[in-house]
Amino acid sequence: MTKICCLGAGYVGGPTCAVIAYKCPDVQVTIVDLNAERIAAWNSDELPIFEPGLDEVVKACRGRNLFFSADVDKGILEADLIFVSVNTPTKKSGVGAGFAADLAYVESATRRIARVATTPKIVIEKSTVPCRTAESMRAILEANSRQNIRFDILSNPEFLAEGTAIADLMNPDRVLIGSLQTPEGFAAQKALADVYAHWVPREKIITMGLWSSELSKLAANALLAQRISSVNALSAICEATGADVDEVAYACGLDSRIGPKFLKASVGFGGSCFQKDILNLVYLSESLHLPEVAEYWKQVVTMNEYQKSRFAELVIRRLFNTITNKHLAVFGFAFKKNTGDTRESPAITLVKHFLQEKAHIHIYDPKVEESQIELDLCNPDVATPEQYKSHVKVYNSPYEAAKDVDAIVVLTEWDEFKTLDYRKVFNSMNKPAFIFDGRLILDTQKLRKIGFQVEVIGRQA
Ligand code: UDX
Ligand code: ADP
Repeated sequence: MTKICCLGAGYVGGPTCAVIAYKCPDVQVTIVDLNAERIAAWNSDELPIFEPGLDEVVKACRGRNLFFSADVDKGILEADLIFVSVNTPTKKSGVGAGFAADLAYVESATRRIARVATTPKIVIEKSTVPCRTAESMRAILEANSRQNIRFDILSNPEFLAEGTAIADLMNPDRVLIGSLQTPEGFAAQKALADVYAHWVPREKIITMGLWSSELSKLAANALLAQRISSVNALSAICEATGADVDEVAYACGLDSRIGPKFLKASVGFGGSCFQKDILNLVYLSESLHLPEVAEYWKQVVTMNEYQKSRFAELVIRRLFNTITNKHLAVFGFAFKKNTGDTRESPAITLVKHFLQEKAHIHIYDPKVEESQIELDLCNPDVATPEQYKSHVKVYNSPYEAAKDVDAIVVLTEWDEFKTLDYRKVFNSMNKPAFIFDGRLILDTQKLRKIGFQVEVIGRQA
């Protein structure tokens, strides 16, 4: 029986390896993490992450061929293939701060594999990492392992999107496996391809060199984020001219060379990947002495920041140029629908703007816990704990959140926001009642009929 161990039970390692276990009953999968609390949650009825379909997959194979454990060393010792899916946040200090990836977790996981392993391993880089990380991992493994233990390194970037992770994993557009172009590298590539081939058609499993594979992940995310920043840049032109950004995106998306996806204007993209990966690309370009290339990609992030502050300014301007002491309901705190993840969520930046203007914020999100919202906002970059206590309140119901507020600001495209009883909401609000749609999901005509003052990104008032 093939044995797989995954280091890191997060948004990537958890769902990915759960689906491998689900699709490969003849493979034993153990997911380990340094965080024992997180492991306990994976072993409970209340999984640590919300992802549609994940509960069913975990329930079907946990205890059968899927195990969650805090015993990292045992996991490493037993495995033939080891996925490294630990976190790689943007560096906060030191060289490359604000751009480069912090590889401390990858390095410490790699050192641990080298220290513990007593048999040959295929080590698979799964976290999104800068180019050349595989090379560093190989150097660490070779310099620190017992004699005669063979390590092969593969790059197998994950392309799942949160909220649709299970569907993406079950039916991926492609599986990418990078390796050294040597006979041993090809053999390792084949071993991993054989695992995916349990459910992914062979023609969708593509192989290439390590560098191409590592860069492809950064490139795919940069290209996707670039589309959003492009359509968001157009949304500003639409607001100024009377064009409708949804119509423009629709017309452009019908061109088969462009395609319809990732053209939805919004209050800005969030999530753990887009910004981080683009900043990685910027840093890489600068290190390669390609300043023009760096500047080109940086603009995608700059446009995203502009979109968020533009929306905050719109709210303030429409509320008679001041929101001081006014009450605003924020609908949605997650970075997208169908996830409880708030990493880089535009809601954090928007609430920061509103708090700087001394507004009172009522937050409602169907999946984000209050403790997470507090953690995100009580951050030196956002607000003080005192500001949070006096000016932020988290609600369990959108109706409660909207009571006695001057405006509703929709920041996440949760389906339930489309079907609320907006007449009831309107009646409970201060007048004039404003609603700002940062996701272009609401029926604006209906809302105007009820009496709302409606503002939508990419449309003239
Ligand atoms: C992304 C990539 O899609 C995925 O392939 C990669 O593995 C990880 O990064 P994720 O961040 O989970 O996935 O979600 P995604 O669906 O890409 O959305 C990212 C952000 O862009 C969200 O804030 C979303 O609301 C926003 N977005 C997306 C738009 O504003 N408009 C769009 O048209 C699409
Ligand atoms: P991602 O979205 O990339 O999956 P997460 O932060 O959700 O990132 O998950 C990464 C996980 O990796 C965390 O739960 C963290 O505790 C775990 N981790 C970090 N370093 C190690 C390590 N050396 N060994 C095992 N797990 C680790």
